[in-house]
Formats: sequence, structure tokens, C-alpha cells
Amino acid sequence: MADYFRDDCLQGKVVFVSGGSSGINLGIAQQFAAKGARLMLFSRTEDKLRAAAQTITETGGTALWAAGDVRDWEAVRAALARCHVELGPLDVVLSGAAGNFLAPVTGLSSNGFKTVIDIDLLGTYNVLKHSYEYLQRPGASLISITAPQAVMPMAEQAHAGAAKAGINMLTKVLAREWGPEGVRVNAISPGFIADTEGTARLVDTAEKSVALLKSIPLGRLGEKNEIADMALFLCSDNARYVTGSIFDCDGGYVLGTA
Ligand code: NAP
Ligand code: COA
Repeated sequence: MADYFRDDCLQGKVVFVSGGSSGINLGIAQQFAAKGARLMLFSRTEDKLRAAAQTITETGGTALWAAGDVRDWEAVRAALARCHVELGPLDVVLSGAAGNFLAPVTGLSSNGFKTVIDIDLLGTYNVLKHSYEYLQRPGASLISITAPQAVMPMAEQAHAGAAKAGINMLTKVLAREWGPEGVRVNAISPGFIADTEGTARLVDTAEKSVALLKSIPLGRLGEKNEIADMALFLCSDNARYVTGSIFDCDGGYVLGTA
């Protein structure tokens, strides 16, 4: 994989993005396409996928899409198999599909907890495990999207915190198991990113918004393109000796307040 400072650094590379139809993951997909990658976007809602792919194709990029649920083992397998047939061996896999809501444990049913574990953690497992068969090795790079809740206990986030903590460990275990084959496995932990569903769901009052900004050392929300820059670095040659790492990209939010 070429130097990430070059405009064509992902020319001809094949990238699969779960949860690629909106938000942070779409921002990453768009930046990867601008650097020459050919993409397959995978998530549940066809209309969102069609519109997302169009934002890439109308600027000259290549983006296929497949609709399915990351909890559905067979749907994930079929999408990755199609990606392999239509685009070729996989260079980069981004596992970013997730679901979240605020709920204290007293307001969370067993199925509510399971739903987020299944989408975030089992979904990431399904995507990474099925990807293995189609990886371009050595050189393939797998990136999962985790969150500060994984390491920072956050009220009303037992489900998401547990799921993302699982993703962090899965990242490290797979880095050990697949490293000898030249496959790198890392994760990015975005902080609160502007204009995203995730932030809208967690920061749902003006008071929370004011308090949040005070708790971020850099004093502002992040931008989708700042997460995309981190992802681009991680899948480039510049990160060729980096695996099993969780990268905070959060303006210092995870440091907490003294
Ligand atoms: P978003 O726009 O809602 O993105 C979620 C994506 O996942 C959508 O494409 C959604 O499409 C897809 N998805 C959800 N459930 C799915 C399922 N069961 N199967 C397949 N696809 C599914 O949210 P976002 O805020 O940008 O979050 C993107 C990622 O960043 C997530 O992993 C999130 O945990 C992480 N993150 C976000 C923030 C933030 O500030 N926003 C902070 C830390 C981490 P469909 O609903 O159509 O399936
Ligand atoms: N508080 C407490 N429980 C909730 C809840 C909330 N706000 N929202 C959903 N649940 C519970 C439901 O009550 C249900 O449990 P039950 O069967 O015991 O009643 C369980 O979660 C599953 O809900 P359902 O709506 O069937 O799940 P789904 O698979 O259709 O959708 C969600 C998954 C709930 C995560 C949905 O919000 C979603 O699709 N989100 C994707 C977008 C997103 O969250 N983006 C931000 C990414 S960080």
C-alpha cells in the first residue's frame, strides 16, 4: 500500500465498509474513494446505501453496495463473496456498523442489551471473520470502529461500553492470530463527532452539549474527515509496523477531567 500522503495512495485498492451508508463510516468511504479505492458499502437500508454510493460515483469513484444486517452470518458472507467476485481481493476492511441509545441498566431489557452486543461486537466478528477468506495477504489492513465507552465507564452506556470493549479485545487477539500472515488489525476510537447520529443520540440536551465541550481538552467536537485521516494512515504503508492498536481520535476526551 502506498504512502498515505499521496493523492492516489489507494489507487486500485478494494475496501469493504460495514455501516458505510452514513455518518463516520461514509466519511471514511468518501475519503478512501477520493484516494482511488474501489468500495463496497454494506448496511441494512437500501435507500441510504443507494444515496451513499451515489455521493461517491458522482465524484468519479467506484462504490457498489449490498443490503444486509451484520448480525446475519449468511448475509455478511454473501456480501463479501460478491465484493471478491466484482472488485477482487480485499485490501482494507472497515467494520463500523453499530447501534446505540441511552438507557440505564434499569431501563434496559435483556434483548436491548443483546441487540447492541449483537450489532456492534458479533457484527464486527462476523465481518472480520468472513473477510479472512478474501484478504490480500500480506498487506491487508482491518480497522474496526470502537468508542471511548470501551475504556471509560459511561452511565446509560452499559450495552455500548461492553460491546466496544469486546471489539478492543477482538482487535488485539486477531492482530496476534493474523499478524504472522502479514495482516494488520487495528481500531479507531472516535470521540464525539459533529453531525452524526451517534452524537445526536448521546448528546440530546443543550446542557449536555455545554458540559461535553468543557470535558474535551481541544474544546470542540471532531469532524468526520478527521476520523477518515486516521483510517487512511492506518491502512497505508506508513503504518506497516502498527497492529493490535486502538487509536483515540477524540480531542483528548478519553483523558477525563481531573
Ligand atoms: P450512523 O450514521 O448511524 O452509522 C451507523 C451505520 O451502521 C449506518 O450505516 C447504519 O445503516 C449501519 N447499521 C446499523 N445497524 C446495522 C446492522 N445491524 N447491520 C448493518 N448495518 C447496520 O452512526 P455514526 O454516529 O456515524 O457511527 C458510526 C460508527 O462510529 C459506529 O461504529 C459508532 O459506534 C462509532 N462512533 C461514533 C461516534 C460519534 O460521535 N458519532 C463516537 C464514537 C464511535 P442502517 O441503519 O441502514 O443499517
Ligand atoms: N432504550 C431502551 N431499550 C431500547 C431502546 C432505548 N432507547 N431502543 C431500543 N431498545 C430495545 C427495544 O425495546 C428492544 O428490546 P425489547 O425486545 O426487550 O423491547 C431491543 O432494544 C431491540 O429493539 P429493536 O428496535 O427491535 O432493535 P433493531 O435491531 O430494530 O434496532 C437499534 C437497533 C435499537 C440500536 C436502533 O436504534 C438502530 O437501528 N440503530 C442504528 C443507528 C444508530 O444507532 N446509530 C448510532 C451509532 S453509534
